[in-house]
Amino acid sequence: MDAITVIRAKRDRAELTDEQIDWVVDAYTRGEVADYQMAALNMAILLNGMNRREIARWTAAMIASGERMDFSSLSRPTADKHSTGGVGDKITLPLAPLVAACGAAVPQLSGRGLGHTGGTLDKLESIPGWRASLSNEEMLAVLDDVGAVICAAGEGLAPADRKLYALRDVTGTVEAIPLIASSIMSKKIAEGTGALVLDVKVGSGAFMKTLDDARELATTMVGLGRDHGVNTVALLTDMSTPLGLTAGNALEVRESVEVLAGGGPSDVVELTLALAREMLAAAGLPDADPAKALADGSAMDAWRRMIRAQGGDPDAALPTSREQHVVTAPSSGVLTRLDAYAVGIAAWRLGAGRARKEDPVQAAAGVELHAKPGDTVTAGAPLMTLHTDTPERFPYALESLRDAYDVAAAGTDFTAPPVVLE
Ligand code: URA
Repeated sequence: MDAITVIRAKRDRAELTDEQIDWVVDAYTRGEVADYQMAALNMAILLNGMNRREIARWTAAMIASGERMDFSSLSRPTADKHSTGGVGDKITLPLAPLVAACGAAVPQLSGRGLGHTGGTLDKLESIPGWRASLSNEEMLAVLDDVGAVICAAGEGLAPADRKLYALRDVTGTVEAIPLIASSIMSKKIAEGTGALVLDVKVGSGAFMKTLDDARELATTMVGLGRDHGVNTVALLTDMSTPLGLTAGNALEVRESVEVLAGGGPSDVVELTLALAREMLAAAGLPDADPAKALADGSAMDAWRRMIRAQGGDPDAALPTSREQHVVTAPSSGVLTRLDAYAVGIAAWRLGAGRARKEDPVQAAAGVELHAKPGDTVTAGAPLMTLHTDTPERFPYALESLRDAYDVAAAGTDFTAPPVVLE
């Protein structure tokens, strides 16, 4: 077998054979196939697609590239959630302890932000002392004790995806449904969760810009999960505007704690509860009541124990930014658009995200919103506050926000899209 034959086959729109897929994924992981060859193959896959059999085989080859975790020793059923990524998407933070408080175990392997979408680990690292890296044994111990753990995936889990994702990120080949579906599902299947709820985002701040593409991605991932014995369901949710009122690391932790305390923005609460209900039902706990666990403080207790178990101090003050800049409403009326992608780029430029994988992030940087689509705004009143430790970044953030919002005349009939679309 050789890489050029496999590249030519996909370039010429042929179906790859099982043997070709097994070989190329394995040989790339071992370093026998070069980055430039895999980049060419990824581009051919992006342009010419893969059928269901090819995607299933590609996913299986990625799983086989590393270890599989085993949670069968736990007394509780396992349930995990994966979001395809968005702006202000802090849902994992309140959701994992909430679902744990309702009786499931949540093994949440999370990632870091790259580009305009934030990363759960970067957010949690703004809590003094909290650490993302745990050994498999430590992870199991926290899961057994608290019922929820949020940590970085170990080096041994789907190493093919680690290499492939880094390559796709710099070769314009992220946005291919077969590659996204196999990337996400190989990690989730290897992680060994029994139930999985996928939050597939749709809109300007998401990878999938249209409902049709999001539906295809969701259907593909649900099929892969079920083929591997993982009880998988998907929700399609809105990402045309940021989730909640914050985008940025410490800002999002603060908002998540507000949700766990029984407050927080209504869209964050609604989506957290919708995903919790799906996770609990998929884990075989359909009678659990997540709204009660939020109201009675048991989700907050699970959060505090989860943070402490990973070295964090849940009572420590979160970092605040050295400089702020307020953006005001240009006119009075109804806010009819606040673009998720533009806000994500602004938060990233303020220092909340990184341009290269090795860059540090600013814990306190980001964007705080004072209005959401559908709200009434007054000319000159604050629309958003930008936070950073490096004020020379303000002009770049403001540049990305220039065409990010529309205000219509007072009385304009406008209804914001629902949080859960399907
Ligand atoms: N998240 C992943 O883990 N992989 C992708 O390809 C896209 C989003």
